[in-house]
Formats: sequence, structure tokens, C-alpha cells
Amino acid sequence: MDLGLRGRRALVCGASKGLGRACAAALAAEGVLVTIVARGEEELRLAAHDIGCSSGMPVGYVACDITTEHGRSAALASLPHPDILVTNAGGPPPGDFRDWSRDDWLAALDANMLAPIALIRSTLDGMINRRFGRVLNITSAAVKAPIGELGLSNGARSGLTGFVAGLARTAVRHNVTINNLLPGYFETDRLKALFDARARQADIAPEAGREDELAQAPARRFGQPTEFGAACAFLASAHAGYITGQNLLMDGGAYPGTF
Ligand SMILES: NC(=O)c1ccc[n+]([C@@H]2O[C@H](COP(=O)([O-])OP(=O)(O)OC[C@H]3O[C@@H](n4cnc5c(N)ncnc54)[C@H](OP(=O)(O)O)[C@@H]3O)[C@@H](O)[C@H]2O)c1
Repeated sequence: MDLGLRGRRALVCGASKGLGRACAAALAAEGVLVTIVARGEEELRLAAHDIGCSSGMPVGYVACDITTEHGRSAALASLPHPDILVTNAGGPPPGDFRDWSRDDWLAALDANMLAPIALIRSTLDGMINRRFGRVLNITSAAVKAPIGELGLSNGARSGLTGFVAGLARTAVRHNVTINNLLPGYFETDRLKALFDARARQADIAPEAGREDELAQAPARRFGQPTEFGAACAFLASAHAGYITGQNLLMDGGAYPGTF
């Protein structure tokens, strides 16, 4: 299927590796002019080079912290009028809510709620004026089924989800959609860090925790970032203008509910 994206411009945040990178690669493969963002410049530069080589498209990059105003200004100065915006940043650390200070909460809100909202605020009206726009927020399966030790993530991302639910209904008449992508367990560095933290807490080998999760996973595997990127590209596509305000759970069937 031709996704009808050739020549569109996309800003993909948190994209030097993992799920963001997979979204950038899938979009570039469809002929999208992609600019990727992450803090670490070297890994980001290499990612841009690799995605450029495999897609044959020029890939821009901006090394900045997207959770800061300065970082967002730098990213948007490089690509001021994106047609596609993928918001993403690192997830907050796991822990016990008794240990979290106000500053911990503010950092989680900045990264996983306020930064996406600020980026949407800066780009949505341009999309509306051009009669095409796709916003994809990478959130988490934890929005639908909370993960105990990820309370900062559960809380901050739910705030974004609630906000987007309202806004999405006002933009769709202009062919501008806003959807959230909810990863379950995907094979990335973030997942490894989560298993390592759990293993330290439970005093077990990281491999043991991973094997336990795999044994319980209906798919008996974790997701591949390329699978996530493909879903992102479809929701960004010309064919997805009637899908908005949705929370697409990609977890290999792990969520046990009927809906
Ligand atoms: N993988 C999973 O199983 C899973 C499950 C549920 C939710 N999630 C969530 O999905 C998101 C992506 O996860 P992932 O597994 O792809 O993580 P990852 O492999 O750790 O990659 C995160 C990417 O975001 C960049 N990044 C982090 N903080 C940033 C910031 N402040 N500004 C700009 N770039 C930033 C990182 O580069 P730099 O560090 O160089 O900035 C990196 O490129 C995270 O929020 C994660 O919590 C993942």
C-alpha cells in the first residue's frame, strides 16, 4: 500500500534509538523528510546516517533535550512546519511513590505530558491551515493497565491522554488527527533498563525477570520496534484521516480486557 506520504515533513522526537527511531525509519522509508531529535549527538548523528542510507531520503537531526523550552525551540527552528509530529522522550524511572518529591513529579510531567502539549501547541495551527496533520504521541500500555513501579509514568501519561482526547475532536475536521501509540513490552534499551531495575529490587538475575515476563506474554515474545514503526507510519498516512483520538495498544495481547 502506498501510504501517500512522499514529500511530507516529520519531526520525530526521542529518535536516536528504540521506538522513536523505528517510527523515523518507517516514515523515511515512505519518502517522508524526517528530522530526528535526541540529546546524545553522536548516537543521533549515526541514526540519521543509517536511516538516510536505508531509505535514500535526507534525514536531519537536532541534538537537544525536548523536555526544555530551549530544546523545543531548536527542534522547531530546524523543522518549523512539520506535517507529522511524533512526540516521545524517555520514560520516568521506576520506584515507590513515597520516595518521589515534587521535583520528581514535575520532571515526569515535563517529559511525558507538558513537552508533547507544547509541541502540539506550536505545530497544530500550521497543520490545520495546510489541511493535513498527523500527531502521534508515544505513551505507554501503562495508560490502560498501570504498572506498579511506574507510577510517575502512569500519572503523567494519563494527563496527556486526557488532554488529547478533547483536542483530537476539534482538529479532525481539518484533516488533522491526534492519536496515541501505547507500547507494551518492546525490545529496546528502555525495556532492558526496566528489567535490570526490577532484578535489583527483587535480588534476582535480570534474565530471570525477563524469562518470567516472556512466559506470561500471550505472544511468547516482546514486540520488535519495526512493528511499532509500521503502525506509526500507517496512522501518519493519507489513509488514516478518519482515525483520531485513539489509543492504539500494541502489546501482543497482554492486556486481558475485551475492549
Ligand atoms: N520499550 C518498551 O517496552 C516501552 C514500553 C512502554 C513505554 N515505553 C515508553 O516509550 C518511550 C520510548 O521508549 P524506548 O523503549 O524507545 O526508549 P529508548 O530505547 O530508551 O529510547 C529513548 C529515546 O529517546 C531519547 N530521549 C530520551 N529523553 C529525551 C529527551 N529529554 N529529549 C530528547 N530525546 C530524548 C533517547 O536519546 P537520548 O537519551 O540521547 O536523549 C532515545 O533516542 C519511552 O517514553 C518509554 O518509557 C517503552
